[in-house]
Amino acid sequence: MRALTLTFALASTLFFVAACVHQEANVESAAVKSYSFEETPAELASYRDQAKGAFEAVGKRLIPRLTKALNEGGPVEAVKVCREVAQPLTDEAGKEVGFAVGRTSHKLRNPANASPAWLQSVVTESAGKKGADVKPLVFDLGDRVGVASPIVAIEMCLQCHGSDEQLKTEVKNVLAEQYPEDQARGFAAGDLRGWFWAELPKK
Ligand code: HEC
Repeated sequence: MRALTLTFALASTLFFVAACVHQEANVESAAVKSYSFEETPAELASYRDQAKGAFEAVGKRLIPRLTKALNEGGPVEAVKVCREVAQPLTDEAGKEVGFAVGRTSHKLRNPANASPAWLQSVVTESAGKKGADVKPLVFDLGDRVGVASPIVAIEMCLQCHGSDEQLKTEVKNVLAEQYPEDQARGFAAGDLRGWFWAELPKK
């Protein structure tokens, strides 16, 4: 039971962190070749691993801030942390690793999280799927490498991304005020919520 609780807490925190990372999307048009993580060609494997590392590093930085806000302030306070603290922390982490990291979704809360063009068709085609039915991908973008990893909704996300009945009035109020174009609702546990992405220059 204890192990289960711990596993859940860790999963929640990591997923939550994914929620709070964003960066301006780049614009890209050409059709691109993509690979599953398992089938990534050897020359792209180190980029895949760097991206995975960056997703985790951002998480480790945000975890203490976010868990504290959720535990002490509740979801309304956590919305503020998502908005005001996650971005500078993510920018900092991105600068350190030297490539762009962001998240996106078919149902966006913040329009600034729009997908980079190379990921757009995957975002559109995977809309409405279960997290278990999508896999992380590596994209060969010519002079750059794109990496994308699914973000799956779990129970705790639903207090801010669930149905109308699941969102508290005060959460609805703060969302209405800060995200007037919010579409990121109506998710259930297990649903694909969105994607983590990274874009790395080839060396
Ligand atoms: C306390 C409320 C709250 C909770 C709980 C929450 N989120 Fe969010 N989520 C937000 C806010 C606010 C944003 C917009 C942040 C921004 O301005 O970039 C957001 C944005 C996102 C985004 C970026 C795409 C978009 O719509 O802009 C993803 C992906 C996401 N959340 C996934 C999750 C997942 C998965 C969980 C659960 C593990 C979760 N969120 C839990 C409030 C929350």
